[in-house]
Amino acid sequence: MTSSRNLLAMIRSHAAGDSAHFLSIAEHIAEEAARSGKTRVASDISAAVQRARVRHEPAIRPTPIAAARGELAGLMRVTYPEVRLADLVVSGDLQRRLRRLVREHEEAEALRAMDLLPRRKFLFSGPPGTGKSMTAAAIAGELGLPLLTVMLDGVITKFMGETAAKLRLVFDAMRATKGVYLFDEVDALAARRASENDIGEARRMLNSFLMFLEEDDSGSVVIAATNLRSLLDPAIFRRFDAAFVYAKPSSDEARRVLTNHLQGFDASGLDWDLVDRRTIGLSQADIVSAAADAARDAVLDNSSVLTTEIVCQALADRAGIHVE
Ligand SMILES: Nc1ncnc2c1ncn2[C@@H]1O[C@H](COP(=O)(O)OP(=O)(O)OP(=O)(O)O)[C@@H](O)[C@H]1O
Ligand SMILES: [Mg+2]
Repeated sequence: MTSSRNLLAMIRSHAAGDSAHFLSIAEHIAEEAARSGKTRVASDISAAVQRARVRHEPAIRPTPIAAARGELAGLMRVTYPEVRLADLVVSGDLQRRLRRLVREHEEAEALRAMDLLPRRKFLFSGPPGTGKSMTAAAIAGELGLPLLTVMLDGVITKFMGETAAKLRLVFDAMRATKGVYLFDEVDALAARRASENDIGEARRMLNSFLMFLEEDDSGSVVIAATNLRSLLDPAIFRRFDAAFVYAKPSSDEARRVLTNHLQGFDASGLDWDLVDRRTIGLSQADIVSAAADAARDAVLDNSSVLTTEIVCQALADRAGIHVE
């Protein structure tokens, strides 16, 4: 029934992440089926398309989002993450604190009734690949909000005063469009002042950021992330409502990352003591990549069974990336 042309168009739109086009082709197929008397199939397809549309287009999605237009283009990237806090492997304490802050936003009404506001400004610090950016995405995913990643190379310019003007646009957007705003690698923006007498552009930029952050009373969540916390100007810390410190995984956490990413494979024969030893020093991101490498190796060996050798080799290869 489905012509190969339709099938090809669906595969292409899926690969391009264009779910609207994908669903409209499916609708077209339903119409063709209805015309040729296959009413049952036609109504099943239509119903599936409707369900998929509801899932893909949550009512809270602002359209068209201000950030995609005009002078904000080039300053922020907008995504609608589907990742959740449950996907994040961090210490129990960090997971508990992150869930708490999400609950504050989910139950903001209850807080407001008591003249309280949910906390909104957060600092994430820790080594690369431990989940800082992923957490920003997961908070957006949990709250059904867009994630607006501030592109600092677009914001920071060498022209006097222009960086402050661009930062102002970003902070204005926080009021106009409720979302999770992520300043990744914020140390580029808020590094410690070189000296008290420094009156250069870097200082002007830092001062504007501190001021905008302090003045911001939008409803948006503002996250600053860095793996160089010690470089930050000390004046920045009191502008945040809370700070979260990320770390490389414990052996237990490393196991969880591996098993989460090796679902569908038989890992029952793994010698975990040997595997644990290979995860030492690796970040969660490294382990995710190693799991994918191991999965590829297993598939190429025509097997869904993972051997200790395959997994340890993938982890060792990954560790090699960090050797100078
Ligand atoms: N704690 C974690 N739990 C599960 N997966 C993780 C975790 N941390 C990282 N990952 C995996 O690694 C990828 C990259 O991680 P992420 O971008 O969050 O790191 P980061 O801490 O922001 O690093 P950087 O400091 O380099 O920006 C994630 O998309 C995810 O697949
Ligand atoms: Mg990051």
